[in-house]
Amino acid sequence: MKRKISLALILIVSLITVNAAPPVAAEGKKIFSQRCQSCHAIDKVFVGPALAGLHERRNLDWIVKFVQSSQTMIKGGDKDATALFAKFNSIPMPDQADLSEQDIKNIVEFIKEEAVNAKAAPPLVRPSEEKPGFIPLAFSSASFFLPFTIGIMMIVGALLFYAKVKNYENTRIW
Ligand code: HEC
Repeated sequence: MKRKISLALILIVSLITVNAAPPVAAEGKKIFSQRCQSCHAIDKVFVGPALAGLHERRNLDWIVKFVQSSQTMIKGGDKDATALFAKFNSIPMPDQADLSEQDIKNIVEFIKEEAVNAKAAPPLVRPSEEKPGFIPLAFSSASFFLPFTIGIMMIVGALLFYAKVKNYENTRIW
């Protein structure tokens, strides 16, 4: 009897573990670039909303249903889906009915990772904000003027040398 119970327990636990395979961002990235990127970016609004923070504002179940068929959800009267549809000028998101729950979890995982990466990257700063007085291309700045002068001198030197060689060539006696 005990044996049976423990066998049953092992079976249940292993079934749960199989079902709860961890999401894989790399898989999600593949699907995202093929099917979502044309309308979605991670941190800016494109045809559809920016997807950063998606897992914080929607639960996974909602996301799965929405991605598989957003219009079914809207017709069913889901408030969030309807509001979003109205906000995005009633552009319907195409159904992705063939994507499994696991596929969509992988995409969510990829979005999570991408959003973290985007935050970690330092924001772009204009050079003029970092060094207010600095003008990169000005005759008064030594870092421009010195290489510029040397460059000109080298070009003039090369031309003079070429002229000399031509001169010798013209005067050769053989
Ligand atoms: C043809 C353009 C298009 C494609 C392709 C597309 N979407 Fe969308 N998506 C939208 C639009 C537009 C919305 C806004 C809701 C609406 O209008 O129905 C949206 C909304 C969403 C939302 C809800 C976002 C939120 O803030 O709650 C999710 C999640 C989403 N899309 C995921 C995906 C995924 C994942 C894919 C790829 C498998 C995908 N979308 C492909 C256009 C698209």
